[in-house]
Amino acid sequence: MENKHKRTLVTCALPYANGPVHIGHLAGAYIPGDIYVRYLRMRGEDVLFVCGSDEHGVPITIKARQQGVTPQDIVDKYHKVMKDAFTRLGINFDIYSRTSSKVHEENAAEFFRKLYDHGDFITKESEQLYDEEAKMFLTDRLIVGTCPKCGNPDAYGDQCEKCGSTLSPDELINPRSSLSGSAPVKKKTTHWYLPLDKYEPWLREWILEQHKEWKTNVYGQCKSWLDGGLQPRAVTRDLDWGVPVPVEGAEGKVLYVWFDAPIGYISNTKELLPESWEKWWKSKDTRLIHFIGKDNIVFHCIVFPSMLKAYGDYVLPENVPSNEFLNLEGDKISTSKNWAVWVNEYEDEFPGQEDVLRYVLTANAPETKDNDFTWKDFQSRNNSELLAVFGNFVNRAVVLTHKYFGGKVPANAKPEAIDKETLEGVKPCREAMEKYLDTFHFREALKEAMNIARIGNKYISDMEPWKVAKTDLERTGSILYTCLQICADLAIAFEPFTPFSAQKLRDILKVSVDAGTDHRAGEGEPTVNFYKEGESAALHTSVKPAYPVVLNWNMLGEKELLKPGHELGEAVLLFRKIEDAEVDAQIARLEAIKAAREAAQKAKAAEEAAKKVEPGKEPVTFEQFGAMDIRVAKVLEAERVPKTDKLLKLTIDTGLDKRTIVSGIAEYYSPEDMVGRQICILANLQPRVIRGIESCGMILMAKQGDGKMRLISPVEAIANGAIVG
Ligand code: MF3
Ligand code: ZN
Repeated sequence: MENKHKRTLVTCALPYANGPVHIGHLAGAYIPGDIYVRYLRMRGEDVLFVCGSDEHGVPITIKARQQGVTPQDIVDKYHKVMKDAFTRLGINFDIYSRTSSKVHEENAAEFFRKLYDHGDFITKESEQLYDEEAKMFLTDRLIVGTCPKCGNPDAYGDQCEKCGSTLSPDELINPRSSLSGSAPVKKKTTHWYLPLDKYEPWLREWILEQHKEWKTNVYGQCKSWLDGGLQPRAVTRDLDWGVPVPVEGAEGKVLYVWFDAPIGYISNTKELLPESWEKWWKSKDTRLIHFIGKDNIVFHCIVFPSMLKAYGDYVLPENVPSNEFLNLEGDKISTSKNWAVWVNEYEDEFPGQEDVLRYVLTANAPETKDNDFTWKDFQSRNNSELLAVFGNFVNRAVVLTHKYFGGKVPANAKPEAIDKETLEGVKPCREAMEKYLDTFHFREALKEAMNIARIGNKYISDMEPWKVAKTDLERTGSILYTCLQICADLAIAFEPFTPFSAQKLRDILKVSVDAGTDHRAGEGEPTVNFYKEGESAALHTSVKPAYPVVLNWNMLGEKELLKPGHELGEAVLLFRKIEDAEVDAQIARLEAIKAAREAAQKAKAAEEAAKKVEPGKEPVTFEQFGAMDIRVAKVLEAERVPKTDKLLKLTIDTGLDKRTIVSGIAEYYSPEDMVGRQICILANLQPRVIRGIESCGMILMAKQGDGKMRLISPVEAIANGAIVG
């Protein structure tokens, strides 16, 4: 790591407060951000970790409208859900605030105002679609109409979800507002634009030349945006939910959500550190790192830096580590389709298993390409890695120490070369971890941490101290001494990834770790973090270490972390088995969601098919029609024709006579449905023998587009024999 900087400001994308957080969010930005912060803090760096809810934007207003509540109600609800979910998962932001805060409203307005006064914006007048009933300008998404390409009657103004074509509202046939259903009208409106094209030469130099080290997916996306040419971007919207545009003549306008949200990083810092926030944003020796998902790249690499540059004074991001997308059981995660693992639900259903999710999402992180989360993989990574390697090794070492040495670290009385070689093997893992952590390759870094556990597990299996103990207690002591040093290494190495288990392990070993400083207390002295004994790593901290032995990152792989005679705590299991039944229940839940979705799709398709109308027929003369003897009749008896699925034998009162008609309606109606019903028949159809029964006439039915037949009956009682015509 280059060491020119004095402090590191780490942000995670502010999630929209319109739904709970799911595993895709976690894997994309939040877990990587937390790993990085924990790692830096253990190395003694001064770090500020900032996040919060993104509470503006059109989708929140739509959701509110749908539910008949205010946008504020929506964001209040989800802000709390998200904040709690992060805390429970051990993601320890120094501040998690929100963009509906007063500080933010003022700060975002001030930011806009400075650019405005400085002449950094251009204005453009354009015609936009307006809903006169709802008194609102409509974004493309809010306009629906018939797709010109495939005829889908519910295509959106930006896209038809049926045929996938990209559309503009002008192309829709019979456009209507999805808010009121009324036809939109065109209305002139003026907006402020940030002329990104002006920043293009500078952006090319800054990103393409000076930041070649950015991850390939990030660099590549920036390059293709820049190569495509940048356009001025509107930074205001006609909307009543957001930060009001702070200039005259802008009534009814708010800042575009993607203009105000990133300023939220600054506002939240200001809220936490009203006196000293500028040090984090305006000193050259601050390193700013944004953790985001890939759909946020352009905003964080191109738009926000241009805003900061226009404002002046601010530092620019040093790096923007961004992951690709995580799929779930082979399908794209989708909030609207409920295809997700919701973090708050996971925490309720797997209490105490936070680290398993953290581990799996890191081991399987979509760092270079989209990746898939499956419950089977979740189970097997827990059972065969965390439990079988890490947990099993620690447990054997500690249990045997209690068994043979009264729970005290034994003396290294009979060392052999293999012991030293084994301990030496930890150093390359640490070096690799540092290299990977410094370059945001957390998945590889975790592999190296796990390799330390593998080294220990292999060593204890090969040495078989439980056998050696029968003949040579001194040698047993040296083996366990070696194992316990590796346990202490693990208590350091796993702290960034699985902080709850690392803390459990430290309680077993009766050691503390210097987890660095945080700024959650606001101004004044930052708190030094030592986790409290037995307390979850999420709820640290204490200013005094729980145990006199204090580990830190720099001790990882160094020798004798635990001295002979050091007393251990009780052996508790770090991990538990995840049973088939637990993951099967999760898979069944997802399958039920998928089945329900498919059933709904089928029902919709059937409905559409039923709506299809047969083409019209050739004209007939009045005489031709008059030749048909169509009458009202009543069903007296009905029975199935034996050995057939489709046929009913009906006895009919036609007013003229009683007769038999054999009809192929058993597929749609049972005999009980038929008896007593009035129907219409074609009475003068030539008799035919069907299955040995003479059928005299035909029952009139209506055939829908999907091929289904329905009876047509009089709407009120009519005398049998009445003529239809
Ligand atoms: N709310 C956005 C999303 O979830 C992210 C906003 S990041 C910020 O995609 F920088 F704008 F805050
Ligand atoms: Zn279409």
